[in-house]
Amino acid sequence: MPIHYNGMQFAGSESCIPCHQDVYKNHILTAHFNTSAVATAENLKGSFEGSEHEVELIDGNAKIVKDGEYFFQTISSKTSGELLDKNQLDLVIGSGVKGQSYLSFKGDSLFQLQVSYFTLIDDFINSPGYPNYRYSRAVTDNCVKCHVTFAKNKNPKGNTNIYDRNSFMLGIDCERCHGPLKKHVDFRTGNLSQTTIDPVVHIDSLSRQLKMDNCVQCHSGLRAIQIKENPFSFVVGDRLDEYAKNYNFGRPQAQLDVHGNQYGLLKSSECFKNSEELICTTCHNPHKKQRGNTDHFNSKCVECHNSPKDLHINLDYETAKLNNCISCHMPLFPSQTMKVKLEDDAEETSVDIRTHLIGIYVDQVFQNDKK
Ligand code: HEC
Ligand code: HEC
Ligand code: HEC
Ligand code: HEC
Ligand code: HEC
Ligand code: HEC
Ligand code: HEC
Repeated sequence: MPIHYNGMQFAGSESCIPCHQDVYKNHILTAHFNTSAVATAENLKGSFEGSEHEVELIDGNAKIVKDGEYFFQTISSKTSGELLDKNQLDLVIGSGVKGQSYLSFKGDSLFQLQVSYFTLIDDFINSPGYPNYRYSRAVTDNCVKCHVTFAKNKNPKGNTNIYDRNSFMLGIDCERCHGPLKKHVDFRTGNLSQTTIDPVVHIDSLSRQLKMDNCVQCHSGLRAIQIKENPFSFVVGDRLDEYAKNYNFGRPQAQLDVHGNQYGLLKSSECFKNSEELICTTCHNPHKKQRGNTDHFNSKCVECHNSPKDLHINLDYETAKLNNCISCHMPLFPSQTMKVKLEDDAEETSVDIRTHLIGIYVDQVFQNDKK
């Protein structure tokens, strides 16, 4: 198990099982836990058979193929079919809710491959942000920091694409949110020669901002400006603004994309501004897969909004719709970055993202009424 930059050693989530079995059992089903993995048949989405799954570039055709036990991206000449490039898929990024991208090592240097999988069309696309010719992007901490628990970069600032390959802890695991906990395990198993205090952070005793910061490190835009140390240095209980910030593009808060800013949007909502306690974990249980559990989310609204007026008792909306607060007050919006042209002359198809700017969207209400 790797040692964190702060000197603390990781224990790995399997060591939590004897004492926190219920949390563990639920956690391994979450998008967090599954957001990065070794690229095996079990972890990869999509069909790898047949030429219809090729991605056409100006200077070649790219596709994902299975060769023996392993998966590769091949790029071949459009005219002669000659193989121009072949790279193994080493790591897969994304649980597959919206899509998956692939990372490949050349020696100890890490790159993102040309092709990604797009769940909406159940097929491969040119990776978001990529040009339509052969290209591969060097992957630094500013990419992997939100999709793995830990990875040790050759440079202490995290800005090279050269890694200690054995240091990767894949998935967003317990110790990404709770900090490295070898000492907690030692303490609780009575291995007191190792430690005399339990270093575990009690999240429920932290301030509202510090509780939020634990989620916000990955859910507030890219935060690509590192102020101190390294993108993996922040641990629960630290103040995030001391570590990293966003470029100020002067964009309105309401602009969303897949690498979205749930924090910025929520913070601008009247619900957040006018209550003392609303945080991410008011609505989200960090250990459970809850996507699609509309009843759960609506029940959270009603914990604070239960006057007849808030429940629209006197209004003309159909009863069925009334129950679904989020469909009108946190509607889905198309993502700016995760979109794809299915045909040359077709409009781009986008993934929809749930806005966290809770508010009144009359247009959406009328659109919903028309459907
Ligand atoms: C040998 C048993 C044992 C092991 C192994 C263990 N824990 Fe614990 N853990 C405990 C006990 C006991 C508590 C205290 C429970 C309480 O105070 O209610 C605790 C408390 C916690 C808390 C809550 C602190 C709080 O009160 O807010 C967290 C978080 C935690 N453990 C995470 C982990 C993680 C992550 C692992 C694996 C890396 C792990 N534990 C391994 C026994 C264990
Ligand atoms: C600042 C944190 C952050 C960084 C940096 C980041 N991502 Fe993400 N990524 C996210 C979050 C959060 C989501 C989930 C999006 C949402 O639902 O808002 C996501 C979603 C994805 C998905 C879709 C996952 C799925 O299951 O649908 C892929 C693929 C992905 N990211 C790839 C990448 C790659 C490749 C890089 C590096 C070039 C990268 N990300 C950098 C936070 C980040
Ligand atoms: C995405 C971040 C995240 C991950 C991953 C995560 N936790 Fe937690 N955990 C939290 C937060 C936040 C709390 C505080 C809960 C609250 O305030 O509702 C918490 C609370 C706890 C507690 C104390 C309260 C309780 O629910 O029992 C334990 C024990 C715990 N986590 C163990 C684990 C273990 C073990 C894992 C991995 C199997 C894990 N956590 C993974 C964020 C996370
Ligand atoms: C290390 C970065 C990181 C941290 C810390 C983190 N998240 Fe995430 N979160 C992600 C990424 C990446 C995804 C997209 C996972 C995927 O589908 O591949 C995601 C997805 C989610 C989702 C969508 C789950 C689904 O089923 O599709 C929710 C909700 C969420 N996070 C809430 C939280 C909350 C609440 C916290 C704090 C307790 C938190 N996250 C902490 C990176 C993070
Ligand atoms: C922790 C309590 C809390 C929760 C949970 C909560 N809200 Fe609110 N919300 C408030 C407060 C406080 C206001 C400010 C106005 C007021 O006092 O009613 C507000 C305002 C609003 C407004 C008016 C917005 C505006 O721009 O005028 C809407 C609509 C709303 N909430 C819907 C929801 C929905 C839908 C949910 C569930 C997804 C929700 N709220 C969850 C506390 C909460
Ligand atoms: C008032 C309730 C509420 C609060 C507070 C809240 N969320 Fe959500 N969140 C939701 C609902 C509802 C969904 C949609 C769930 C679904 O699709 O099943 C959602 C979805 C998400 C998703 C997936 C987005 C997508 O479209 O795929 C992420 C990521 C997320 N939340 C992160 C966060 C983070 C981080 C925070 C704190 C900054 C937060 N949420 C606070 C209600 C909330
Ligand atoms: C069919 C769409 C729709 C649904 C479903 C819906 N609302 Fe609304 N809501 C609206 C519209 C439109 C407004 C603004 C006009 C109005 O007050 O009727 C509003 C206003 C509000 C306000 C602000 C009221 C005020 O006096 O400022 C709150 C709070 C609210 N809704 C909460 C909820 C909750 C909680 C639910 C779920 C039980 C819900 N809404 C379900 C469309 C909806």
